[in-house]
Amino acid sequence: MTIKVIETTPFSDQKPGTAGLRESVARFREPHYLNNFIQSVFDSVPDLAGARLVIGGDGRHFNREAAQTLIRMAVANGVSEIILGADAILSTPAAAHLVALEGAAGGFLLTASHNPGGPDGDFGIKFNVRGGGQASAELTDRIHARSLQIREYREAHIPLPRLDDIGLHSLSEGCRLRIVDPVNAHADLMESQFDFPAIARWLQARPGRFLFDAMHAVTGPYAREVFVRRLGGDDSLLLNASPREDFAGGHPDPNPVDAADFVARFATADAPDLGGASDGDGDRNMIVGPGRMVSPCDSLAIICANHDCIPGLAGRLKGVARSMPTSRALDTVAQALGIPCHETPTGWRFFASLLDAGQIQLCGEESFGTSSDHVREKDGLWAVLAWMQMLASHNCSVDELLERHWQRFGRHYFVRHDHALSSEQGDAVMAHLDQHTDRGRLTLGGYELSADSFSYTDPISGHTVTRQGIRLHTDTGGRIVFRLSGTGTQGATLRIYLEQAVAADADWRQDRDGVLEPLSRLALEAANLRKLCGETTPTAVI
Ligand code: G6P
Ligand code: ZN
Repeated sequence: MTIKVIETTPFSDQKPGTAGLRESVARFREPHYLNNFIQSVFDSVPDLAGARLVIGGDGRHFNREAAQTLIRMAVANGVSEIILGADAILSTPAAAHLVALEGAAGGFLLTASHNPGGPDGDFGIKFNVRGGGQASAELTDRIHARSLQIREYREAHIPLPRLDDIGLHSLSEGCRLRIVDPVNAHADLMESQFDFPAIARWLQARPGRFLFDAMHAVTGPYAREVFVRRLGGDDSLLLNASPREDFAGGHPDPNPVDAADFVARFATADAPDLGGASDGDGDRNMIVGPGRMVSPCDSLAIICANHDCIPGLAGRLKGVARSMPTSRALDTVAQALGIPCHETPTGWRFFASLLDAGQIQLCGEESFGTSSDHVREKDGLWAVLAWMQMLASHNCSVDELLERHWQRFGRHYFVRHDHALSSEQGDAVMAHLDQHTDRGRLTLGGYELSADSFSYTDPISGHTVTRQGIRLHTDTGGRIVFRLSGTGTQGATLRIYLEQAVAADADWRQDRDGVLEPLSRLALEAANLRKLCGETTPTAVI
C-alpha cells in the first residue's frame, strides 16, 4: 500500500455549522476541498487511529465519490476498521446508532440534510463522536482552527471494492472494510422501542389509513422495511420511496411549504388517519392528520404527555428538553409530570450531554426534529412510529389526541416566519434587536415587553454559549424569538418564532394565524424590518 502525503493550502470557509460543513457540490469538487476538511477532522480527533469508524450518507449527488475519498484517507490515517452502509448509504439516525452499536470512535455522515441535491445542489459532511452524538462546539472549533492551518493530507492509494458488496474486505494490513446492510440495525432498533404487534393491528385495521412520504430521499428503504415488511402495511402507503441523487429536483424538507402536496392529501374527506414524512437524511419528521399538520412543538409535548404508551420510554422519563425557539408546550407537560424541562440553544448537539448523563430521555425542536435517548440524533421514523403507537393505544384520531391535550394542558399557538435577507440586512436586524435587550424592558405597539438575548450553560460540561437568539416576552403569555438560521449556504435567513400560550379553560380552538397576528405585527415593529429590509412579507410560513 502506498500512502501519499499531498501538499495543500487552507480554505477559509470550512467552519462547520450547527450540522457539519455544508457547501455547494461545486465547492466540494474543488481540488483538496473535501480532503482538507477530512484531514482536519483526523488531526483533531487522534483517537481515530487504531479505531473503528462508521461512514454513510444520504445518497445525494457526490455521496459515493466522497465516501471513496473518506475510505482512502481513513486508511492512510490509521483507522483499523471502517463500517460502511452499503452503497455508502446510512440515514443520520441509522449512522448515529451504528456508531454506538459498534463501539466506533466516530462516524462521518455525508449529508446536507434537506438542502437540495444534484450537481447544482449542496453537499455536506459532518463528524459524529463516540456514542453517535454530534460534535461539540469545542470540537468543531478545533476542526475549524485546524482547517485554517492545514498544509498536507494523507491518502492511501489502494483499490476499493464495490461499495454495495456487503461483507468483509481487507483494505491494507492494518485496516478492513465492513460493508453492512444500511437498514436492518435501525429497523431492529425501532422494533425494540415500540410495540410492533399493536402498531401492526392499527395499521392493518383499515386500508389506506397511513401514508409515508420519503421525499425521494434516504428514508424510502427504511420505511419499506419497517412499515411494509415488519408491520405488514401495503406498499401503497409509501410515497416517493425510491431515493434519488437529486431528490427529484425537490427540497426534501418535511414541512407545510416543501411538502405542501403531501399535506394537501389530508384535506379531503377520505384522508388517511395519519401521515408522516421525513427529510433528505431521515432525521426530521412531519406529522399530519386529516385537515391539519401537527406543529412539531405540539408533537413533542404530546409524545411527552403520552410517553407511557411507548415501550422505549414508559416509566423512565426523568427529564425532557427543547430548543429555545420551540414553544413552551413541553414545559407545561413536564411541570405536570414533575420532571425538569431544559431549554437549550438551537442544534441537536446541545441535547447530547443531557442524554448521555441520563438527565433527559426525550427532546425535540420546532425545526421538525424529535427523538428519544435510543439514539444521539433526531430520528424521523421514530417520531412517526411514536404517533402510530399513540393512536393505536388510545384508539383515537389525530384531532382527538390534540384536542384532549389542549383541553388538559392548554395550547401554545405557534408559527415560524422566515425572511430571506442579505447577510448585511440580517446583521442590521439583529443589531437593532440587540438594543432592546440592552434595556431589558420596553413598551412597544401597546405591549409591555421583557427582552433578553439567550445564553446557555451546559449543566454537564459547564460550557457557556451566548447570543443564541433574542426573546421578547409579553405579559400575557406571548413570546417572540428572533435568530438567524445557522444552516443556509447563502445570504441570511431571519427566523421569527411567534408563540401565544392559551390556558386550558380558554379558547384553544381558534385559528392559529388569527391568534398570532398581533404578535406578528409587533415582531416586524420590534425588528424594524420595513425600514431595514424594505420587505415585510415572510418568504415562508412554517
Ligand atoms: C439542523 C439541526 C437542528 C436545528 C436546525 C436549525 O437541522 O440538525 O438541530 O434545529 O438545523 O436550523 P436553522 O436553519 O434554524 O439554524
Ligand atoms: Zn436532516
